[in-house]
Amino acid sequence: MAAYEYETHDYDVVVVGAGGAGLRATLGMAEQGLRTACVTKVFPTRSHTVAAQGGIAASLSNMGPDNWQWHMYDTVKGSDWLGDTDAMEYLARSAPAAVYELEHYGVPFSRTEEGKIYQRPFGGHTTEFGEGPPVQRTCAAADRTGHAILHTLYGQSLKNNAEFYIEYFAIDLIMSDDGVCQGVVCWKLDDGTFHVFNAKMVVLATGGYGRAYFSATSAHTCTGDGGGMVARAGLALQDMEFVQFHPTGIYGSGCLITEGARGEGGYLTNSEGERFMERYAPTYKDLAPRDYVSRSMTMEIREGRGVGEHGDHIHLNLSHLPAEALAERLPGISESAKIFAGVDVTKEPIPVLPTVHYNMGGIPTNYWGEVLNPTADNPNAVVPGLMAVGEAGCASVHGANRLGSNSLIDLVVFGRAAAIRAGKVVDKDAPKHALNQPSVDAAFDRFDGLRNANGSTPTAELRLEMQRTMQSDAAVFRTDKTLKEGVVKMTEIAGKMGDLKVTDRSLIWNSDLMETLELTNLMPNALATIVGAEARKESRGAHAHEDYPTRDDENWRVHTISRVEGTEVTLSHRPVILDPLTTEEQGGISQAKIAPKARTF
Ligand code: FUM
Repeated sequence: MAAYEYETHDYDVVVVGAGGAGLRATLGMAEQGLRTACVTKVFPTRSHTVAAQGGIAASLSNMGPDNWQWHMYDTVKGSDWLGDTDAMEYLARSAPAAVYELEHYGVPFSRTEEGKIYQRPFGGHTTEFGEGPPVQRTCAAADRTGHAILHTLYGQSLKNNAEFYIEYFAIDLIMSDDGVCQGVVCWKLDDGTFHVFNAKMVVLATGGYGRAYFSATSAHTCTGDGGGMVARAGLALQDMEFVQFHPTGIYGSGCLITEGARGEGGYLTNSEGERFMERYAPTYKDLAPRDYVSRSMTMEIREGRGVGEHGDHIHLNLSHLPAEALAERLPGISESAKIFAGVDVTKEPIPVLPTVHYNMGGIPTNYWGEVLNPTADNPNAVVPGLMAVGEAGCASVHGANRLGSNSLIDLVVFGRAAAIRAGKVVDKDAPKHALNQPSVDAAFDRFDGLRNANGSTPTAELRLEMQRTMQSDAAVFRTDKTLKEGVVKMTEIAGKMGDLKVTDRSLIWNSDLMETLELTNLMPNALATIVGAEARKESRGAHAHEDYPTRDDENWRVHTISRVEGTEVTLSHRPVILDPLTTEEQGGISQAKIAPKARTF
C-alpha cells in the first residue's frame, strides 16, 4: 500500500470543477448555508466556460414573440427525440428566471435600445413549434457570454463564503462498500500535498472530454475527469456515442467561431461561392442545428466543393456585415480570426471546418443532478451522495444533439437545481462519514502506480494515438467498417495503459503525471464513445451512420448505458423519459405536440 500523508477536510458539499455549472452549484449551496468547497484543477475563471461565446438560451421575448413551450419543443426536436422530456421541460421553463437571476447577480449582458437583454438567433431555435421563423432567443454579452457569466458567478460565490481549493486535481471518488459517495481524494498541484475531502454530497462539474479527439474547440483541460472517476467507481456513463461537431472551428487550429456569427447574418459558402445550406435546410438555412450544418459542410467537401488548396474546408462570410456591428456584437471572434487564421473579417471569409465541440453523453442524472446507477429493476436508481452537472452530466436534456446556447442555460439551470436538491437532502447536522479507508487507499495506490509507471509508452504518444483514432473512426459520418476498426484500435490503445512511461516522479507541478492522470480519465470516455457508436444501428442527431441512415424509434429510442472496466465496455439500455412534468391543461405541452416525426429544417 502506498504511504502518502494527507490532510482531511470536512464539508457538507464538495463541488469538483469551477466552470459555469460548478460555480452555479457552489453559489446555490453556499447561499443556503451549506458548508461548501469547490475544488478545481484550474483557476475558476480559466475554466472552459470562459470560452463560451454566443450566448445563453431563454425565452425572454425581448426581440419578438417567444415562450418556454416553443423553446422546449425546439430542444426536443434538436435532441432528435432522445432527450428526457421532464428534464427538457425543466430547462425551458426555468430558463428565463435563471437568466434574470444572472442579470441580478451582475452579468453585463448586451442591451437593446430600450435597455433589455439583447438576444440573437441561434441554430434550431424557432417559433410556433418549429413552423414559424427563427427566434432571437440567445441572450448575449457580445461574444464573450461565458466569460461574463464565469466572472460573475465566481465573485458571487466568494461573497457567499464558498471556499475554493484552486489547482487541486481530483484523483478518485471515495465510495462506501454499499455504494454511497463519501468524498474525493485530491492532489495539490503547486506544493505536492494530498487532501481528502469528506463530504455529504459530491458534485461532479468537471466538463466534457473533447480532448479525446485530435481537433476540438475544447480547452486542453477538458479531459472527462468526472466520467473517468465514475467509471472507476463501477458506475455508469450514458449516451456517449453522441459527440457534437461545431460547424465553425477555425480550419487548422480548431478555435471556436461562434454560431452567433451566423446568428448575426453570417453565412457559409463552398468553392463555387454557393450558399449551399439553402439546399440542405431550405427554411432555416445556416441557422439549422449543428449536426445538420456539420453534415452538410462535410458532404460539400466530400463532393469536391471544399475551399482552399486541398479543397478540405468551407468559408464563413461576415464581410457583408457593417463593421460597427462586427465590432459591437462579434469583437472576440473578429480577433480570433485575425490571430488564428490571419483573416480580417471585414474583408475576407474565415476558413472553417466542423470541429469536436460538445459531449451530449456523460454521467446519467435526473433533472435534480442526482447521479443514476441504472439497473434492470430500477433505471432511475440514485447514487446517494453524488451529483453531476453541466457537460459532465447527462440529464438528458440534449439527447442526441444539443442546440447552440442550450449549454450555458443547462449549466445554470441544473447547477441551481442541484443546489435546491442538496438543500433538501443534505443534513447539515448529521455527523460526518466514517470514511471507507480501503477506498481512500485505493486512490493513493492508483496514483502511486502512475507516478512510478515505468513502461515504454510515453503518455503524450498514447494520447495522440487515441486522439487520431477517435478523430478518424468516430467522426461526423460513421460506418460499420470505421466503427468496427475503431473499436479494435481503441481496445488495443487502451490496453497499452499498463505500459505507460512517466519520467518525472516529483510531486510539485508535475505536468507529466497530471497528464497521465488525465489520460486515465479520457480513455474510458473515449472507449465508451466508440463502443456505443458501433452498437447503435441507426442515425440520430450527431450519430450519422451511413449504413443505417434513418432514425429507428422502435428499436433505438433508448439511452445507451456503458460501464467501462479496463478495456472492456459493457452496454445496456435505459428507457427515455417520455412524460413532461406538466400536462397541457396545466399550461404544459401536449404529448401529441412533441411526438417524434421527421426532423427537417
Ligand atoms: O457557437 C457558440 O457560441 C457556442 C455556443 C454553444 O455551444 O452553446
